[in-house]
Amino acid sequence: MSRTLGVLISGRGSNLQAILDAIGEGRLDARVGVVVSNQAEARGLERANEAGVPTAVVSHKNYASREQFDEAVLAQLKAHDVGVVCLAGFMRILSPVLVRAFPDRILNIHPSLLPAFVGLHAQRQALEHGVKVSGCTVHLVDEELDHGPILLQAAVPVEEGDTEETLSARILEREHELYPKAIQLVLDGKVRVPGKRARIAS
Ligand code: GRF
Repeated sequence: MSRTLGVLISGRGSNLQAILDAIGEGRLDARVGVVVSNQAEARGLERANEAGVPTAVVSHKNYASREQFDEAVLAQLKAHDVGVVCLAGFMRILSPVLVRAFPDRILNIHPSLLPAFVGLHAQRQALEHGVKVSGCTVHLVDEELDHGPILLQAAVPVEEGDTEETLSARILEREHELYPKAIQLVLDGKVRVPGKRARIAS
C-alpha cells in the first residue's frame, strides 16, 4: 500500500499539523501527498504550504451533487498517488464515490467517545449530557456520519466548571497524539476488518 496520505480539511488544521509533526519527528512513517480543502480560507492550507505539501481547494459549492464533489476530490487524491485518506476536520459527509474508492483506507477523528455524540459540537453535547468522561475516537469511515469500525479511542475527564472551550482543548491534545498512531497502524497493515469491527494486531 502506498504510504502517501491525502488529508482532507475544512478549517484550522491542527490535526493536519499533528500528522506533519509526527512525520517530521519520525513517529509516523508516511508522507502527505496532498491536502485538499473545501474551504479556500482554511488555515490548514497555510500549514500545508509551510510544510511544502501540495494543496488543492475543491469547493463543494461548485458541484451540483455530493457525488460530483467527491469525484473532484478523488481526482486530486489519485493524481497524488494517495493510499490512505485522513479526514481532519473535514465538514462534508462522504458519498459512496469516495468510500468505495478507498475501502477501509479512510480515517476520521472525532472529539467524543463514539458512538456517543456524533455530528457537530460533540464537546458541547458531552457537557449538556453531564458525562464525566469524554474523549476522542479515530475510526474507519463508512457512508454514515461519524460511523465505522473504531481503531483507537482516548478517554478525557470532564472537569467541574469545564466550558466547551476548555473541554475541547483538553480533548484536542489527545487527538493530536491519537491520530498519528492510528494512521501508523493502518499503514503497517495491522488493521483487519473481518466484519463491522476492526481487529488490531499487536
Ligand atoms: C477536531 O476536533 C476533530 O476531532 C473534528 O474537527 C476538529 C478539527 O480540528 N473532526 P482541526 O481542524 O484539526 O484543528
